[in-house]
Amino acid sequence: MHFILVGLPGAGKGTQAVNLVEKYQIPHISTGDMFRAALKNETPLGLEARKYMDRGELVPDEVTIGIVRERLQEDDCTKGFLLDGFPRTIPQAEALDGIIDSLNLNLDGVISIEVPEADLLQRLSGRRVCRSCGAAFHILYNPPHKEGVCDQCGGELYQRDDDKEEVIKNRLDVNREKTQVLKDYYNQAGLLREVDGTGEFTEVFKRICQVIEGK
Ligand code: AP5
Ligand code: MG
Ligand code: ZN
Repeated sequence: MHFILVGLPGAGKGTQAVNLVEKYQIPHISTGDMFRAALKNETPLGLEARKYMDRGELVPDEVTIGIVRERLQEDDCTKGFLLDGFPRTIPQAEALDGIIDSLNLNLDGVISIEVPEADLLQRLSGRRVCRSCGAAFHILYNPPHKEGVCDQCGGELYQRDDDKEEVIKNRLDVNREKTQVLKDYYNQAGLLREVDGTGEFTEVFKRICQVIEGK
């Protein structure tokens, strides 16, 4: 079960991925999460990535491809993976094809979560994330039981630096065209499946499961 989740910032990739990897027992590989973890630990990778993330720009392909290549070589990826936020550019997609080939794996599908841009701004500006476990909440659509506190682990909730309004706009500008080009690439390969990402979290989840199970 080797799948990719594609979608503009705020489309719900991370939210859906958490439940999908639990259901299908495959690793969740999110380049954004990997960069944020590196930043938290103040590693050279994290400090390098921060320069781009804070402005809503993409981290250079060589850096991003390097960390994914390393991750996909780990044993747990042989039975499956769910990539979230990678690839985002054609060089990344081509590099991924090469990595998958060299590991004798097959890509089963690319799921694009479709949400109108008008909704994305609201989803992103209201998102709050747990500093300890990374769980994502939304002040209106998925509020924590206690304001500012993570339901899962009791950690402190914060707003991502790139969820400030000025940066959100730039992230959408940077990703809009790239996402379309990427979808075209996978459509030509016969792998693209578009899923309506609006409505209840559980409804979106069901739609994605149907695609994964080929129903
Ligand atoms: P990354 O962390 O991947 O950010 P992103 O792509 O901008 O996507 P998000 O994580 O913001 O959105 P999401 O789709 O996961 O939405 P979520 O589920 O949280 O990347 C961050 C940065 O790292 C990039 O800008 C770049 O600099 C760098 N980077 C990462 N990968 C890279 C790559 N491959 N190449 C180069 N650079 C890279 O949901 C959002 C909110 O909406 C939440 O609050 C949630 O509760 C809410 N929500 C979710 N579903 C629903 C629903 N159905 N109804 C109502 N609200 C909902
Ligand atoms: Mg995410
Ligand atoms: Zn937490």
